[in-house]
Amino acid sequence: MKVTRNIIIGLLIFIGLITIPFWYNLYKPVKQPEISLDTPEIQALEVKQCIEETDYMRAKHMELLADWKVEVVREENRIYIAKDGREFLMCVEQTCLYCHSNKSEFCDACHKYAGVEPNCWSCHNEKQ
Ligand code: HEC
Ligand code: HEC
Ligand code: HEC
Repeated sequence: MKVTRNIIIGLLIFIGLITIPFWYNLYKPVKQPEISLDTPEIQALEVKQCIEETDYMRAKHMELLADWKVEVVREENRIYIAKDGREFLMCVEQTCLYCHSNKSEFCDACHKYAGVEPNCWSCHNEKQ
């Protein structure tokens, strides 16, 4: 009996030890890519806000850009009105990359982390 008990305790400890990486990953906060919002243009903003809410931008900026493209190319409309009424020129270079002038530490850093390679830059100019 005692031998069996020791074996079971030993097994439990063993299982606990080999699953440490799993428990560790389960409880540590999700790792974020390192992106920089530190540009002269963003520093100069009175309200440090993107075009739409940050969560929305993080999750949906690809769709927003795709909509912009359709609006500009098919509808010939170049002005986007944000939910709070601010107006923006629908343009990657002149709008997104105006504030996010550090493309490599912002767009590229996050895309690299997420493993995505938008093919926009073969036609659209990147400043740096
Ligand atoms: C094959 C070349 C090409 C590729 C690749 C491309 N575009 Fe474009 N895009 C154009 C052209 C041409 C226009 C029209 C330019 C104009 O009328 O100002 C345009 C216009 C746009 C516009 C509106 C105007 C502007 O200056 O930004 C947006 C937004 C846009 N594209 C986003 C994207 C995004 C996002 C990607 C990548 C997912 C992309 N494009 C990839 C050629 C391309
Ligand atoms: C007027 C300046 C400005 C413009 C224009 C702008 N942004 Fe932003 N953006 C910001 C600021 C400031 C933040 C940080 C907001 C915060 O701290 O909550 C931000 C945040 C973001 C984030 C979230 C980053 C994170 O924390 O995960 C994404 C993604 C983003 N912007 C993409 C874009 C794209 C794509 C465009 C063009 C369609 C764009 N931005 C245009 C100022 C701007
Ligand atoms: C916080 C992280 C993050 C930041 C910052 C960010 N992106 Fe993205 N972006 C992503 C992710 C993740 C995807 C892929 C989403 C998917 O496939 O559903 C993506 C996809 C895209 C796509 C669509 C690519 C395609 O081929 O369909 C475009 C265009 C794009 N991002 C442009 C930008 C631009 C321009 C900036 C900087 C102004 C930027 N992103 C900043 C995370 C980010």
